[in-house]
Amino acid sequence: MPYDPEWTSSNPSDNPAFADIVASRLSRRSMLAGGLSAAAVTFFAGGAFGASSASAATRTGGGSAARDAFVKRVVGRAAAASPLGFKAVPAGTDDTVVVPNGYTAQVFIPWGTPLQSTGPAWKPDGSNTAADQEQQVGSHHDAMYFFPLGEDDANTHGLLVLNHEYTDTVLSYPDGDAELTPEKVNKALAGHGVTVVEIEFDGTEWVVIDSDLSRRITGLTPVEFSGPVTLDHPALQSNNDPMGTLNNCGGGITPWGTFLTGEENWNGYFGTTDEEFEPTDEQARYGLDAVGFEYRWHEADPRFDISVNPNEANRFGWVVEIDPMDPAAMPVKRTALGRIKHEGALVSDADGRAVVYCGDDQDGEYLYKFVSTTPWQEAIDAGNSPLDEGVLYVARFEDDGTGEWLPLIFGEGPLTQNGGFADQADVLIRTREAADKVGATSLDRPEWVAENPLTGDLFVTLTNGTQGANPVNPREKNPYGHILRWTESGGDKTATTFDWDIFVLAGDPEYDPEVNINGDIFGSPDGLWVDPAGVMWIQTDISNSAQGLEERGYDNIGNNMMLAADLATGEIKRFLVGPRGCEVTGVHTTPDRTTMFVNIQHPGESTPAWGEATPEAPTAVSSWPDGSGRPRSATVVIRKDDGGIIGS
Ligand code: FEO
Ligand code: CA
Ligand code: CA
Repeated sequence: MPYDPEWTSSNPSDNPAFADIVASRLSRRSMLAGGLSAAAVTFFAGGAFGASSASAATRTGGGSAARDAFVKRVVGRAAAASPLGFKAVPAGTDDTVVVPNGYTAQVFIPWGTPLQSTGPAWKPDGSNTAADQEQQVGSHHDAMYFFPLGEDDANTHGLLVLNHEYTDTVLSYPDGDAELTPEKVNKALAGHGVTVVEIEFDGTEWVVIDSDLSRRITGLTPVEFSGPVTLDHPALQSNNDPMGTLNNCGGGITPWGTFLTGEENWNGYFGTTDEEFEPTDEQARYGLDAVGFEYRWHEADPRFDISVNPNEANRFGWVVEIDPMDPAAMPVKRTALGRIKHEGALVSDADGRAVVYCGDDQDGEYLYKFVSTTPWQEAIDAGNSPLDEGVLYVARFEDDGTGEWLPLIFGEGPLTQNGGFADQADVLIRTREAADKVGATSLDRPEWVAENPLTGDLFVTLTNGTQGANPVNPREKNPYGHILRWTESGGDKTATTFDWDIFVLAGDPEYDPEVNINGDIFGSPDGLWVDPAGVMWIQTDISNSAQGLEERGYDNIGNNMMLAADLATGEIKRFLVGPRGCEVTGVHTTPDRTTMFVNIQHPGESTPAWGEATPEAPTAVSSWPDGSGRPRSATVVIRKDDGGIIGS
């Protein structure tokens, strides 16, 4: 996109960034190192949950004394053999996907792939229509999960469910978008959203199969709202029917078998030609203005004119729940999880209650968690959603390595009518302002959250930013990013206090001696998943325009990549390097971990290193995966040639 406001803060609050404190929290990383056995782990089809009994037995919990006892037990113990058996791949700048020797990467469901064999074929000149795009895989693949179908063939047959974050105005049309039409806007809207596609392994490779379950959810699909903010709320009265989900970036998978998609940079689609337009404080807090990302959809579709239809923007910024197993089920915006620029939605389990962790990805924004009121199974059995009733919290990090979850409840603390809020729905529509008021901690662009199922430790990628220097954002300018780690008090995910440290400060030590990677260098961590064996998969999204990058250098790091971290030892090894101009995002496996699905997003996105793509020369940066023509986002399916576990 032309301009990405993630790099610019829209947070005017003076919430703590601990500006005068320079003590490093790095020493705390050793506290959490240990060699826990993977053997006791049970497995649920890919979520973070499923191993809590092992962690509860291992972790006695109960605050710092128990933590110290735990550390004494595990520090100094001989490290277990590394689960990372592959030979790391070097950093690179080739226009291809590189995986370790002994592994094969198959290009799968690139943008424009028809969902059914009778569907419209991909046209490499950009001439597919909006109606075609509604029946094809969307653009800019992002978070992705595999939902097994059946029991005997759970590792060879299932639904792949993936997000489509945005579309490329150069690549989407034969003649670019200088002239916008309703058809062009509708094609862009149809390229966004979510794909559900049924797939199977045919013995040689993964293939798409015709299915009644395969479907697209786009910027035009009818949607419902549920939770404290409903469609009859005055702030949601818009000139059109409720429809669409946009900028679907991170996401999550629930223990009740649904997919959560996060609406991230939704503000950028709105704009106006009204020269008198001035955003309200509330709009400015979410980055809404007259220009947006210069998509200019408002020129052809008044739905996106922020001046004439301002409330349409209030229908975005939510987590949306999708049931992949029921093609008739409408996507539901779960408003109790707050309205932010939603990145991941990591669902954990606290004695049956659903706990959802979400980052708000913009420089200076916050980390959130939602705790359901009732156990999720109880809610489902009663015909309710566990995500409609509960408490939303925002994180405050203290400089001593502790932290607190601050509730965003109307009537508590500053969240009253005197404080400027009308009710709980108002608190949720203006989540960022509520979080400002309670004193949340500004962070360097929080992206995905992951949980180590062996220990219950939680991690969040802070991709890059400018909130430092202070313990939680320790760099003044942070073009490389870092990964924070925290543990809820007593190992209880519903706790309102936690201990935190920095798991790793990313970057190239040639430019920054503080970089402390134990292994292969990388920058701008974004996608994050810990597999059931406790291997953390780190995906990167560095852009040369990121804050301060031009001063710090990225030349030794090359294209974006995916790495594997052994959480028992901290060792990090580069597993995959993507093609030029891409980001690597979205990772999941079959239950037996012999097939891994990874997304390559926006290959060829213009960067100073590779030159600008134009309609005349769309391959100036990349022509992946087709080798010629327009670059396209795609999934890659990775298998070990000997059929073994990915990463071994
Ligand atoms: Fe869409 Fe924050 O990455
Ligand atoms: Ca992301
Ligand atoms: Ca990113």
